[in-house]
Order: sequence, then C-alpha cells, then structure tokens
Amino acid sequence: MSETLFGKTEQTTREEKGTNNMKIGIISGSVREGRNSAAVTEWIHEFAVNRNDEGVEYEMVALADYDLPLLGAKLSEERQATAGAAIQAWSEKMASFDGYVFITPEYNHAVGGALKNATDFLKVEVANKAAALVGYGSLGGARAHENMRVILGELSVASVHTTTNFSLMTDFENMSVFKPNEYNKVNAQGMFDDLLLWTKALNTIR
Ligand SMILES: Cc1cc2nc3c(=O)[nH]c(=O)nc-3n(C[C@H](O)[C@H](O)[C@H](O)COP(=O)(O)O)c2cc1C
Repeated sequence: MSETLFGKTEQTTREEKGTNNMKIGIISGSVREGRNSAAVTEWIHEFAVNRNDEGVEYEMVALADYDLPLLGAKLSEERQATAGAAIQAWSEKMASFDGYVFITPEYNHAVGGALKNATDFLKVEVANKAAALVGYGSLGGARAHENMRVILGELSVASVHTTTNFSLMTDFENMSVFKPNEYNKVNAQGMFDDLLLWTKALNTIR
C-alpha cells in the first residue's frame, strides 16, 4: 500500500512498481486515410511483443482514434464537447506510459502535421520519459526523425540514438504494401534495447 505520510506517496508507488515494470506506447503518428503507419505500427508492435521483455507491456495507440482539434482553433459549441473529451483522452493515454515508440510519417522533410499538433497538447504527460523513433519515407523518414527529436527535446523527452527506418522504395511494394526487409530487425532490436535502458533509468527520477 502507498505511504501517504510525509510526502512519501510517490516514492512508495515507484518502489512498489519497480523500475523493471514498464509500459511502452507505440504511437501510430498519421491520421491519413489509407495510412502506411498502420502496417508499420503493427509490425513494430509484433516485433516488440516477440522480444518477451520481462515486465514490459507494449500497447499500440492510433492517433487517428483521437479526434483532436487543431490546437487553439475556434470550435462550434457542439465540437467543443467532443474536442475536449478527445484532448483529455489523449492526455491520459500518453500519461499512462513510461516510454514511447513514435511511428513518424515524413511530410515535406518534417514530422506530419497531425503528430506535431498532437504533441502540442502534451507537456507533463511525457516529461522525463524516453522515446524511440520509427520512420518510413524516401530516406526512411530520417528527416522527420531529426525534426521529431527537436520537438521531443522541448517536451523533456529523451529520444534514443538507434532508429528504425523503412524505405518506401525497398520496404514497401508500390509504396503502399508493407514488406519489410529482414535487416530492419537488427535496428529494431538495438532501438528497443536503447529504449528500455533509458526508460528504466528515467523511471528512477520521476
Ligand atoms: C504532402 C506530402 C509530402 C510528402 N513529403 C515527403 C517527404 O518529404 N519525404 C518523404 O520521404 N516522403 C514524403 N511523402 C511521402 C509520405 O512519407 C508517404 O506517403 C507516407 O506513406 C506517409 O505516411 P502515412 O501513409 O502513414 O500517412 C510525402 C507525402 C505527401 C502527401
């Protein structure tokens, strides 16, 4: 049970939880109809689950399931209620994780607008947590990743070094049917190793 005296609640909760118990959210970062992010997210989730990391739970989150408004946009009265609920649900879902894998689409050499907008609703939910980046594009989403690192830095999220980058030319058929090459598993393995290490470390300071 949590100790509520002398401000020990948080500390006790952390001890009960243990730094080996981690919940990682795998965020599908596109809302485009027919998005490639869905197949990439499923592949990454299956890869993660098959690692059988002790005490680690992986959950897929589709940004498209959260009908977020554009931050600060004027909304009709009817829309205000649903938008408020969506923002709250998004905030609570993101707060529930210890670390993240962002499946990051690349649009015009940057992270997609929907994912950027979604990050603008976050601050305390993600602070002092770790994140890994998965991309796809003509250069494997590398430019979107560099952009995402800057955004995450501002949110006090530590992005790990190893990324997983799928090429639209060689890991997709007709740029739309996901057929990843086996060699991607090497990067994915290193990426999850990095992510769990930093997630565990950052669990000790929150
Ligand atoms: C407006 C637009 C801009 C794009 N810009 C880039 C780009 O700069 N680099 C890249 O590799 N792919 C680019 N693409 C291709 C997308 O990365 C590709 O369509 C990808 O599947 C988008 O992710 P999604 O299907 O999950 O939405 C662009 C696509 C669109 C529609």
